[in-house]
Parts: sequence; structure tokens; C-alpha cells
Amino acid sequence: MGGAANCPSVMNILFGYIILTVFLVLVCMEPNQVEARVEPPYPPDYELKALHEIAAELGKKDWNFSENPCNNKSSWFTPPPTHGSQAINNSTVTCNCSFTNGECHIEVIYLAGQDLDGVLPPSLSKLLYIKTVILHRNYLKGIIPREWAALKLETLSVAMNHITGPIPGYLGNITTLKYLSLENNQFSGTIPPEFGRLVNLENLTLNANYLTGKFPLSLANLSNLKELRISSNNFTGKIPDIFRSWKQLEKLEIQASGFEGPIPSSLALLHNLVELRISDLPGEGSKFPNLKNMKNMYRLMLRSCNISGTIPDYIWELSGLQILDLSFNKLEGNISDSESLTKAQYMYLTKNSLAGHIPEWMSIRDSRYQIDLSYNNFSESHQSLSCRENLNLFQSFSGGKNLGPDNCLKSLPCSKDWYSVNINCGGGATTINGVNYEADEDLGGRAKYVPLKETWETSSTGLFWDTTPTSMDFIARNVSVLRTNNSELYTRARLSPLSLTYYFRCLANGNYTVTLHFAEIVIRDNRSYQSLGRRIFDVYVQEKLELKDFNIKNEEKGVDKAAIRKFKTVVRNKTLTIRFHWAGKGTTAIPRRGTYGPLISAISVDSDHRPRVLNAWEKNLKVVVGAVVSVLCLVLVILGILWWKGYFQPKPSREQVLRGLDLQTGFFTFIQMKAATNNFDPANKIGEGGFGAVYKGVLLDGTIIAIKKLSSKSRQGDREFLNELGMISGLQHPNVVRLYGCCVEGTQLLLDMNTWKIIALHMLYSVLKKAS
Ligand SMILES: *[C@@H]1O[C@H](CO)[C@@H](O)[C@H](O)[C@H]1NC(C)=O
Ligand SMILES: *[C@@H]1O[C@H](CO)[C@@H](O)[C@H](O)[C@H]1NC(C)=O
Ligand SMILES: *[C@@H]1O[C@H](CO)[C@@H](O)[C@H](O)[C@H]1NC(C)=O
Ligand SMILES: *[C@@H]1O[C@H](CO)[C@@H](O)[C@H](O)[C@H]1NC(C)=O
Ligand SMILES: *[C@@H]1O[C@H](CO)[C@@H](O)[C@H](O)[C@H]1NC(C)=O
Ligand SMILES: *[C@@H]1O[C@H](CO)[C@@H](O)[C@H](O)[C@H]1NC(C)=O
Ligand SMILES: *[C@@H]1O[C@H](CO)[C@@H](O)[C@H](O)[C@H]1NC(C)=O
Ligand SMILES: *[C@@H]1O[C@H](CO)[C@@H](O)[C@H](O)[C@H]1NC(C)=O
Ligand SMILES: *[C@@H]1O[C@H](CO)[C@@H](O)[C@H](O)[C@H]1NC(C)=O
Ligand SMILES: *[C@@H]1O[C@H](CO)[C@@H](O)[C@H](O)[C@H]1NC(C)=O
Ligand SMILES: *[C@@H]1O[C@H](CO)[C@@H](O)[C@H](O)[C@H]1NC(C)=O
Ligand SMILES: *[C@@H]1O[C@H](CO)[C@@H](O)[C@H](O)[C@H]1NC(C)=O
Repeated sequence: MGGAANCPSVMNILFGYIILTVFLVLVCMEPNQVEARVEPPYPPDYELKALHEIAAELGKKDWNFSENPCNNKSSWFTPPPTHGSQAINNSTVTCNCSFTNGECHIEVIYLAGQDLDGVLPPSLSKLLYIKTVILHRNYLKGIIPREWAALKLETLSVAMNHITGPIPGYLGNITTLKYLSLENNQFSGTIPPEFGRLVNLENLTLNANYLTGKFPLSLANLSNLKELRISSNNFTGKIPDIFRSWKQLEKLEIQASGFEGPIPSSLALLHNLVELRISDLPGEGSKFPNLKNMKNMYRLMLRSCNISGTIPDYIWELSGLQILDLSFNKLEGNISDSESLTKAQYMYLTKNSLAGHIPEWMSIRDSRYQIDLSYNNFSESHQSLSCRENLNLFQSFSGGKNLGPDNCLKSLPCSKDWYSVNINCGGGATTINGVNYEADEDLGGRAKYVPLKETWETSSTGLFWDTTPTSMDFIARNVSVLRTNNSELYTRARLSPLSLTYYFRCLANGNYTVTLHFAEIVIRDNRSYQSLGRRIFDVYVQEKLELKDFNIKNEEKGVDKAAIRKFKTVVRNKTLTIRFHWAGKGTTAIPRRGTYGPLISAISVDSDHRPRVLNAWEKNLKVVVGAVVSVLCLVLVILGILWWKGYFQPKPSREQVLRGLDLQTGFFTFIQMKAATNNFDPANKIGEGGFGAVYKGVLLDGTIIAIKKLSSKSRQGDREFLNELGMISGLQHPNVVRLYGCCVEGTQLLLDMNTWKIIALHMLYSVLKKAS
């Protein structure tokens, strides 16, 4: 070591150089190699040029052309959303760099939720290798460009844009298409027969357009179809019976498509169906369709389809079923006791004619399960129904009763007749122009009956499909400043995915005015995809359809404005029902998937002949007037009594009293006798007889009379007295006093009712000549 250090050999130096050089070469090469692997080549110039054009056509301003679009570390690329995710704001350009000549070509353009307000870009056709074009949730106008017909697209979505006009037939030239969504635009006209050429098509979504007419029979060629959604359109005629061609079909959605019933029997051939949604079929009804072979069904909706008869037993055995919605039909019979629907988290059997008892398995499901049995004909059963928020039994029993055996479902008794009820739906208590709106802040539920109030209660049915349930699904909050007076009524509103009933009780019978306050506070009206929603629903008052296909935004020509509608109705059984119903129309995904259904801000119910409510001043006045009147009454009563007692009569003089005394009539009054005897002056006393003292009296003309006053103490019995009277009156003898008459005045003194009953008898005897 020491030798080498002191005298390095040439070989050593040379060797060191070689090591160093190799090291430097390695160090210098490393970044280049890494860069070569990381940075793919740019796409060909014609594609870059096309991207510029596309950006201009779309109105996409923030693509950074100083970066390589094919570099997935550049700003051109954000990871594409995972399958089926709800990403609504994403911008991605992806290249395929696996071409054998080492070139990169643009394969995917994904621009979602960008509010691009240009047109569908014709220049897209210059990207010869493009396979996936996703432009949903923008504000793109125009038509589908003819140039696209030449593309070899596999996935195309222009959903949730502003595209109008008919669906062009040349779209049928893109025979490579596997996925096509035209959802939520304004396409009109019929489905072009050229669509029959899209034999590779697996997913076709035409929801929420204005498509009309019948289905072209050529669609029977789409034998690879796995998913078909045609809800909310204006198709005509019966549901086309072409399901036999679509044996691969896994998901089928036909809600409020415009098609009429009945449900075609060929549906039975779709063994692979896992999701079936048919709703709002007008016209001829049918029995329950044959779904026996669809063993893997996990979401089943046959709602408002005019289906009669019973529910087949195999439905209760679909062990994989997650959602079952058979509401608003004419189904009869019982629910099976079989407890196989263990996964069925949501069950809607609302508004049918189901009878029998409610099976035990339903009544004991825990809070993960939501079951709605409202509006049916079940019999009030022996078994105890547990009292739960997630089992809606509103009017579930025959006769429209909503009472389970448990008290918790019983409504409060009425304390009085009410003439007015006001509710701030979804919001807190507030007072507007002297009217008190009650709070309605219950979070609601997917199968919930809320009987909390005396005058009103709510029944909420349905869940928002295709979204993750949250606790705030049923109350909407305004997203911007409201342009309306009384904004407290409109900042929060109650939402419903299917049916929401406000049930008023304890109302005085009679004619009423129902005032409904609406405001669209979710869908917007700016230049954004958020303005492309169409919320359409129906309103029933006393089960009479009062508003059909009501669209708040259209009615008011804008959002965040109050729409107030008034209706006359009659309350007969002290009850009033206002029901909001979604009949499958309009859009369901703007601004987010699951935006649809009725939205109600406030409700007023007022009797047309309600007693006027006094204001505070009037109330005070009433109290004062009442008090004064009572005092006056009291005084009058007292005066009346005094008058009756004779307090106000002037005391008659002796002369006046005696003037009326006529010995011939034989009728005298006590007062007259009092006057004649100078108030029974002891000085006038002339003797004492068996019944009392005898007084001398002098009449006006000087006639002297004798008066016998029967002592009240010496009551020897009325009968003896009457005997004496009779005897005396019958006597006619010069030596016997002659009875002129008698005066019997019974005064019932108030002192003692029972024992102190004085009968004052005053007898008038003729004057004895002898005595005088
Ligand atoms: C575009 O990319 C270049 C290179 O990465 C960068 O320097 C520039 O800031 C970017 N421009 C914008 C507007 O982001
Ligand atoms: C980015 O591109 C490279 C090749 O250019 C590829 O290997 C890699 O998987 C890509 N990354 C993503 C997230 O797509
Ligand atoms: C695009 O989607 C992915 C996956 O959903 C997400 O992680 C990413 O944040 C989104 N990008 C933007 C800009 O929203
Ligand atoms: C990329 O292109 C090549 C050649 O056309 C093709 O074989 C390959 O499947 C493509 N890759 C992707 C991910 O599409
Ligand atoms: C969506 O993207 C646009 C621009 O690309 C941006 O202005 C907006 O804030 C984004 N919205 C959300 C919710 O990320
Ligand atoms: C669509 O295909 C047909 C037949 O292949 C052809 O005649 C027609 O020109 C094509 N349309 C367009 C717009 O390319
Ligand atoms: C549909 O397929 C049949 C044969 O299966 C064919 O004759 C017909 O032309 C096809 N229709 C369309 C529109 O492609
Ligand atoms: C196409 O439909 C199938 C079957 O319903 C489904 O599994 C798949 O996710 C759909 N594809 C897309 C891109 O939505
Ligand atoms: C389509 O339906 C809408 C309502 O959903 C209606 O206003 C319109 O008149 C219908 N159009 C046709 C052509 O039937
Ligand atoms: C339901 O179907 C029956 C025939 O099955 C029909 O008489 C009735 O009118 C239909 N109801 C409605 C509302 O279309
Ligand atoms: C209720 O309104 C009807 C008309 O809708 C009217 O004929 C009737 O007299 C009204 N009844 C009362 C009590 O006002
Ligand atoms: C409502 O009143 C009618 C008679 O006016 C009666 O026949 C009916 O049973 C009542 N309904 C309810 C639910 O009380």
C-alpha cells in the first residue's frame, strides 16, 4: 500500500482513468435513458394541428401546447376516472404509444364538466386513431358533425350538452361503436334506422331527450346490446316487442319513455337481466311480467305500470335483489312469509291493493332496510309491528288507516278545528307578513312517515337511484343568492325522489285555498351544464291532479325566483292531502346524477271562511271592551235588583196608600194596613187575641177599623186560622164583628230558607159600633 501510494504506476493511473470514464459515461447516460423512457414522442404534426382546431371549436382555452400532449406527466393528462365513477370535472388527453413504428397517436379525449361552450368539433375526424371521445357535462351546441361518420370510435358520449335536432343517420356508420350516450340533450325526431348497423353496440343511452315515434325494427340487429336506457322521451305506441333479439341485455331502463303498455311478453327471454326499470307506462295494463329466469336480478322497478294480479312467488326468492320497486300498480294478494329477500335494502310496494298481514320478516328489519307499504289494504294484524322510521305504514291498512298496533304510529288527537296551517318545507320556523310558517326540518327518509304534529304529517317514499344515499337527500339548499322576497321560505326546500305527501288533519270542514310556493334552487340558468336540467313533476291536491309536468324554471323563466300557485279545494273529513309525485320525466343528472323529483319550498292552507284573526291592538281593545261591558252588566244587574226591591220608588204618603183602600172589595195590602195603624203603633193596640194583637186603625174618611195582626210566633197552624176565618166570615150578627176581608202576604225572607218562613197575616175587622 505504502509503495503504491508513494509511486503510482502508469497502469494504475490508466486503470483509474478507465473507471472514471466509464463512471462518467454511465452518469451522463443515465438521464438520457430515463428521459427516453419517460418522454414519449409528440403526436404527428397533423394531430397537433387538429388539436389546435379542436380546442378552438370546443372553446377549450387551457390546453398548454408547450407541453407534449402524449406525456402523461404533463398538464394534458389527469388520470381518467375509474369505471362508473361520478367524476364530473376532468380533462384528459391520452395517447397510444405502442405503435410498431414508435409513433404516438391520440386515442382518448376526455373533457367532462368543463362548461365548454363551443360546438361538437368537426376536426375530431382528423384524429384518425381516436377511439374514445367523452364530452359530457359541457355546454356544447350544434349537431353531431357529418365528419365523425368516418371515425373508428368505440366510445362516444356527448351527454348533458345543448345539442338539438334529429339524431343523424350517419352516426350508424361508426360501426365500431360499443358505447354511445346522447343522454340529456334536446334531440328530436325518431331513432334513425341506420342505428341497426351498430352491431357492436353494447351500451346505448338516449335518456332525457325529445325523441318521438316508434323503434326502428333494425334495432333488432343490435345483438350485443347489454345496456339500453331510453327514459324520458316522447316515443309513441306500445313498447316494441323486440327483446328476443337482445338476449345479452343486462340493464334495461324505460321510464316515462312515452311508450304505452302492456309490457311485452318477450321480456321473459332476457335471462341476463340484472337491472330492470320500467315506469310510468300509460294505457292497457298487464299481469306481472314473467321474470322467472332472471335469477341474478338485483334492481327491479315496475312502477306505475298498471300491473294487476298478484306478485309471483319467485320475486320473494330473488336472494340477490337489492332494490324492489313495485309501487303505484294494482297489485293484490299477500306478501310472502318467505324471508329470502335478505339483501333487499329498499322495498317499495306503495299504493297497491296488497292485503293480508304484514309478514314478520318485514316488521323486524333493522335500520339498514327501508320498506314502504304506504297506501295499501293490509289487515290490522295480531303480530306487533315494531315502531320504526324505516317502515312506512302511512294509510297501509284497509280503510285508509295508518295505524299499526303501536301507539307510535298514531296521530295526535285534535285539540280544536284549525282554519289555517303554514309550513316552511325543509326549513325552519319563520314569520312572513304576520303569517307564522312552521318548521319542517325532519331529514326525511326513503320510506318514512312523520306524525309529529297535530295538524300535519308527511309521508316520504322513494330513493334517488344511481347515487350514494346521504342524509341530506331530501332537503335542498339554495346554491346562490335568491332573487326573491321572503327568501327564508325558499332557501331550503323539501325534495322527493318519488312521492311526498303532506297530510293535514284537524281542519274545519269547508272550502280552502291551498298556496304552494316553489323556487328552483338546484338547477342553474347560467351558461353552464348546470343549467341543462329539466325538473318535471306533478302535484295532486285531494288526489286531484292540479299541476301536470310542472317545471318551476320554465314557469318562472329562471331560477331562484318564487313561483306561487293557488288552488281551491274542499275539506270534508277534516283532512287535506297534498301530494308531490315524480312521474319519470325530465332529466336526472344535472347538475349531479340523482337530481330530479318534486321540490317544494312552502305550503299554506287557508279556510275561505276562517274566523278573522285579531291583531295585537285589536286583542287589547277586545279585552278592554270586554271588561267595560262586564262592569256595566254587573251594575245594571245590581240596579235591577234594587229596583225590584223597590228602593227607587218614592215612599208613598199615608194618604196615597190609604186612598186605594176600599172596604167593599175585601182586598187590602199590608202597606195599607201599616198606614192605617200608624205602623202597628203599640198605642193603637186595643187587645190581644188567640192569634195575635188587635190594633185600631183609621181610614182617610175617618172610618175606624180593627186590625188583627197574627203574630208570627203564635202560629197555631194555618188550618185553625183558616177555620176561624171561615167561621167569622159566615157570621152576620150585630154584636159580632164583621169581617171585611183579609190580607195574606207571604214574604219569603232571604235570611233562612228553611226555618224562618214568615207568613204574615193581617186581618181586618169591621168596627164594632159598641166598641166606638
Ligand atoms: C405550459 O407549460 C410550460 C412548460 O411546462 C410551462 O412553463 C408554462 O408555464 C405552462 N403554461 C401555462 C399557462 O400553464
Ligand atoms: C404513462 O405512459 C407510459 C408510457 O408512455 C405508460 O407506461 C404509463 O402506464 C402511463 N401512465 C399512466 C398513468 O397512464
Ligand atoms: C379526474 O378524475 C380522477 C379520477 O376520478 C380524479 O382523481 C381527478 O381529481 C379528476 N381531475 C379533476 C381535474 O377533477
Ligand atoms: C395501441 O395501438 C396498438 C396498435 O394499433 C394496439 O394493438 C393496442 O391495443 C393499442 N393500445 C391500447 C391501450 O389501445
Ligand atoms: C372544473 O373545471 C373548470 C375549468 O376546467 C374549473 O373552472 C372549475 O372550477 C372546475 N370545477 C370543479 C368543481 O372542479
Ligand atoms: C355512411 O355509409 C354509407 C354506406 O357505407 C355511405 O354511403 C355514406 O356516404 C356514409 N355517410 C357518411 C356521412 O360518411
Ligand atoms: C339487420 O340484419 C339483417 C340480417 O340479420 C340485415 O338483413 C339487415 O340489413 C340489417 N339491418 C341493418 C339496418 O343493418
Ligand atoms: C355498459 O353496460 C354494461 C352492462 O350493463 C356495464 O357493465 C358497463 O359498465 C357499461 N359500460 C359503461 C362504459 O358504462
Ligand atoms: C314531448 O313531451 C313534452 C313534455 O314531456 C311535451 O311538452 C311535448 O309537446 C312533446 N312533444 C311531442 C312532439 O310530443
Ligand atoms: C289499466 O289497464 C286496464 C286494462 O287492463 C284499463 O282498462 C285501464 O284504463 C288502464 N288504466 C290506465 C290508467 O291506463
Ligand atoms: C264551496 O265552493 C263551492 C264552489 O267551488 C260553492 O258552490 C260552495 O257554496 C262553497 N261552500 C261554501 C261553504 O262556501
Ligand atoms: C270521509 O267522509 C265520507 C263521508 O263524507 C266517509 O264515507 C268516509 O269514510 C270518510 N273517510 C275517512 C277516511 O274518514
